[in-house]
Amino acid sequence: MLVLGIETSCDETGVALYDGTHARLLAHSLHSQIARHAPYGGVVPELASRDHIRYLIPLIEHVLAQAQVQTQQLDAIAYTKGPGLIGALLVGSSVANGLALGLSCPTVPVHHLEGHLLAPLLEDTQPSFPFLALLVSGGHSMLVKVLSIGHYEMLGDTLDDAAGEAFDKTAKLLGLAYPGGPRLEKLAAQGQADRFTFPRPMCDRPGLTMSFSGLKTHTRNLISQQAPLLETTKADIAAGFQDAMVDVLTRKVHRALKQTGLKQCVVAGGVGANQLLRHRLQELLSNIGGQLYTPKLEFCTDNGAMIALAGALRLKLGITQAPEIQARAQWPLHELSL
Ligand code: KG4
Ligand code: ZN
Repeated sequence: MLVLGIETSCDETGVALYDGTHARLLAHSLHSQIARHAPYGGVVPELASRDHIRYLIPLIEHVLAQAQVQTQQLDAIAYTKGPGLIGALLVGSSVANGLALGLSCPTVPVHHLEGHLLAPLLEDTQPSFPFLALLVSGGHSMLVKVLSIGHYEMLGDTLDDAAGEAFDKTAKLLGLAYPGGPRLEKLAAQGQADRFTFPRPMCDRPGLTMSFSGLKTHTRNLISQQAPLLETTKADIAAGFQDAMVDVLTRKVHRALKQTGLKQCVVAGGVGANQLLRHRLQELLSNIGGQLYTPKLEFCTDNGAMIALAGALRLKLGITQAPEIQARAQWPLHELSL
């Protein structure tokens, strides 16, 4: 059972081929648009769509050649239906549906966040259902109880900025290029996290709701008080900010584990690539006798493999569609169904 996966929701064109029969990723490839958007300090939607058009078909050819698979052997084409940038989504959806129509095979429209939530199942050591997932990306910060494929219970969300967004905006304040998250992490490695005090928003009250805009504003004010802003100070601010973010996320995960009684936790989404976050969560889970599951770094950020995998799992359950171009810019996770 061979499923081609296509991801084009934002600024990465991702393609992968997944063998559902043997639960094996056969090939995957990614074209990142970071360099194209960097001069603008963020993703320019129209440029993103054009780049997806330019790179998607060559990437599909490359992935099929890598796995030595012919298009006629494909059993389904999975693609990201949403949420994301509508123009970018339409490129993936059009190519996927065109291909499926030509091959007379079904499509599997995939929710981007389902892809992230299931990404740890690409690894050899996998969690079993149900498990807790901390999904932290550029657009989302969520605590989700993953009950089974297509069944996700939202436990906590952010009131304002997503975790990745807070990393990116703070990085920008520190003069770092887009996307700031990984660059801020690098800078933080040279700094002292305890030089400045940072707030831990929403930790003093019960519940799993998160809020990160105050932390970003605190950092902005702190930076404006530093004149001149020395490189060492920048590194200390980056380290203090990262420590506060990771501390809040870890505390919320701890609460969610207590509340649900779950002992397995998954961290997914771009911010899940952050080493301090992985380390602290690892510590927490081993302290409570649980286990942390993490996708490989390349499968934390957007990729085609998680879409091919989610597509294969849905195909196994018989959830496919006849070719029809579908795309949803906004698509709340709770509206996802089997
Ligand atoms: O999941 P993703 O690739 O795209 C979305 O669906 O949003 O996540 C991208 C986000 C960006 O905000 C990026 O700065 C952040 O993940 N990110 C990181 C790290 N790597 C990526 N944030 C903190 N530390 C990192 N190492
Ligand atoms: Zn994503």
